[in-house]
Amino acid sequence: MPRTATHGIAMTDASPPTHPDVLEFLLTRRSRPAKMLRAPGPSRAELDRLLTAAARVPDHGKLEPWRFLVLERAALDRLADLCAERGADLGEAPEKVEKAAATFRDSPFAVAVVSSPRPSEKIPEIEQVLSAGAVCLSLVNAALAQGFGACWLSGYAAHDRAFCDRGLSLAPHERIAGFIHIGRAEITPPDRPRPDVAALTTWLEG
Ligand SMILES: Cc1cc2nc3c(=O)[nH]c(=O)nc-3n(C[C@H](O)[C@H](O)[C@H](O)COP(=O)(O)O)c2cc1C
Repeated sequence: MPRTATHGIAMTDASPPTHPDVLEFLLTRRSRPAKMLRAPGPSRAELDRLLTAAARVPDHGKLEPWRFLVLERAALDRLADLCAERGADLGEAPEKVEKAAATFRDSPFAVAVVSSPRPSEKIPEIEQVLSAGAVCLSLVNAALAQGFGACWLSGYAAHDRAFCDRGLSLAPHERIAGFIHIGRAEITPPDRPRPDVAALTTWLEG
């Protein structure tokens, strides 16, 4: 039975149901290194669900300040070549260039999450970029929950304007929030050391 409306929203007495399996997933989730990901990536129907989950993130002002670029084989190979070319132009160490180009060349499938801030008097750009970050994590988690391996990468290419313009045709106000690589992962790597949350937490006095 709806209680009194607040802000025009009918309130119900039902508190949200618990999802212990989801909490357990969040407490144990971990990325899979890109080099361990194998084809096939998600089908179109699977990707549609993953992107729908990724777009279901907090977004102050409902501005949707992000968008997706789907990168399949041909695009990944083209970006691998451009990444190598730009790495040399930028004077990056050859082994770093090879490693960065390999993240595209060896990837079975990826989604570039583009941070695309909207002009807004109310919502500062940093909040819009943070929302794009939330989209990246949500996409990684949705892919892991779907049984894929996934990881969020950036590298010098993500921050190189020429790479973003020539390789991804980004608009001047746009930048890469992350390259989310998705594929099958047969091997589960050992977990990495996790933060000491108690050491990171301060209870503020009244
Ligand atoms: C914005 C951002 C960029 C990242 N870029 C890279 C990268 O270029 N290369 C890399 O090895 N890990 C990168 N990482 C770290 C991986 O995404 C991930 O945190 C790490 O593999 C551990 O994964 P897990 O804590 O999700 O299990 C980045 C993370 C973030 C948040």
